[in-house]
Amino acid sequence: QKGGYPHFMIKEIYEQPETIRSTILPRIKNKHIPDFTADGIPDTVFEGVNRIVIAACGTAMHAGLVGKVMLEKLLRIPVSVEIASEFRYQEPIIDKNTLVITISQSGETADTLAALNLAKEYQGTTLSIVNVKGSSIARSSDYVLYTHAGPEIAVASTKAYTAQLSCLYLLAFRFALVKRTITEEECVNYMEQLQAVVPAIEETLKFDKKIEEICKNLKEKEDLFFIGRGLDYALSCEGSIKLKEISYIHSEAYAAGELKHGTLSLVTDGIPVIALATQDSVFSKMISNIREVRARNAFVILVTNGEKEVDESIYDYHIALPELEDSLAPFTAAIVLQLLAYHTSVHRELNVDQPRNLAKSVTVE
Ligand code: M6R
Repeated sequence: QKGGYPHFMIKEIYEQPETIRSTILPRIKNKHIPDFTADGIPDTVFEGVNRIVIAACGTAMHAGLVGKVMLEKLLRIPVSVEIASEFRYQEPIIDKNTLVITISQSGETADTLAALNLAKEYQGTTLSIVNVKGSSIARSSDYVLYTHAGPEIAVASTKAYTAQLSCLYLLAFRFALVKRTITEEECVNYMEQLQAVVPAIEETLKFDKKIEEICKNLKEKEDLFFIGRGLDYALSCEGSIKLKEISYIHSEAYAAGELKHGTLSLVTDGIPVIALATQDSVFSKMISNIREVRARNAFVILVTNGEKEVDESIYDYHIALPELEDSLAPFTAAIVLQLLAYHTSVHRELNVDQPRNLAKSVTVE
């Protein structure tokens, strides 16, 4: 069942090149254009949409945070990402021109389902990104874009997350094409870059041993920070939840620029800081933030998109990901964060696949 792997989680981490390929390829039609005809999603769904709301929980919500950046960049319309358990008890600003995207691996998360039903009450158009075929969320949505991740057994979500990102990127490309905010040529270019993610993930998985080594330094720690800006902040949120849920180490995700507005006081001698610096536009700002934590003797693990010239004195470990276009770096960075959480949990001899107090599918409110 585990295919020779010691845990489902690591098996599922390694399945990602395949699950991303299976999610993307069936949706590529002539000349690398994304097409949702077979999914029953006509282009008319996107016409008239002037606002997008993404509602989800946990890791699925973090996928939404990444999706927001891409959707806003390409569509130039506002996108908000809502925690489903909060959103469902509010009076949302939704009308017939709002596209409400719910994201769920299981398709059974009670709060996400309630958020979806609320969106319907307010006349929003609902589209869900779901992994489990025929699940409640899939059945209740106007449109469904399935992730083809296959069954995810480990409680910590890994391959569903990158499959969700794949769907969000495909959606952004198609939507932008329909809205004419990108040209067909640009779309083809984006799609080629998206497909380059698969070999890049295969390369990233080769850091497995190095990450296992790094995690020996984390296993005795009690607190840890993930920092990043923009897409890297969205990724930090995901890295933090993954580590917390299976290693039981307290961690926080921080927008790097926010550190000096309070949290820097918690950065003391030896505290691990996972610094994600994959975005060129804010790279020098990130380096300044890393210097700030380094000055407090933080133990820094730096992740960059490709080899970057960085002063070696500011980090303890550096993982240079295979270079991708910046907006696609979340795919490879996510693999590093998943492996960090996995190996830390293994070093701590915890129940990786079934962490305490947590269930795979949260069908209670
Ligand atoms: O099945 P869903 O995607 O709706 O589940 C949402 C969250 O419960 C889930 O992503 C949870 O946060 C994961 N265990 C995180 O790894």
